[in-house]
Amino acid sequence: MTYLSVYTDGEHPETVLETEDIAEIAAVLKELDVVLRQWAVIEGHGGSQEEILDAYRGQVDRVVAEEGYTLVDVAQLHPDGSPEWPEKARAAREKFLSEHTHDDDEVRYFVSGSGIFYLHVGGRVYAVLCEAGDLLTVPRDTTHWFDMGTEPDFTAIRFFHDDDGWVGRFTGNPVAERIPDFDSIAARRASRN
Ligand SMILES: [Fe+2]
Repeated sequence: MTYLSVYTDGEHPETVLETEDIAEIAAVLKELDVVLRQWAVIEGHGGSQEEILDAYRGQVDRVVAEEGYTLVDVAQLHPDGSPEWPEKARAAREKFLSEHTHDDDEVRYFVSGSGIFYLHVGGRVYAVLCEAGDLLTVPRDTTHWFDMGTEPDFTAIRFFHDDDGWVGRFTGNPVAERIPDFDSIAARRASRN
């Protein structure tokens, strides 16, 4: 289930909305030109990139044809209990944890697990907790950041128009530091249910 929290972006952020109503979430995001779609989750897919893309081949091909993506891949991170894991998790989380933009849309389909996209638009921060089945399209140049939590656990299909690589342009705005992080929002959401 997708979960949206909206905050003011001042020194002392206030929560202005919390909802799990998918129609409401899609309507709020539409105002930002952010598109949230849901695909039926295919259970029992394999773990490799090829197996995952094969499982979703029909949906992936349709979206590629509609939106003209030139590159599709799979990003995944799962706790593995190795001695290297804590540092690997920390480094991965750190990468896009500060506010930035991209020259391309950021398009992610969550095959499993979760992550939060924070969209900073018009004096508000929209924290979209995505889970399995969610396909989120964040338009190019939208100021945003992404938090996978302190124990990252997700598999996501990524779609790109530009296969030259994925570059973040960091804004230097420290807003992300004062908005509740993934762990806080996940705990808050769990306590509501
Ligand atoms: Fe990004």
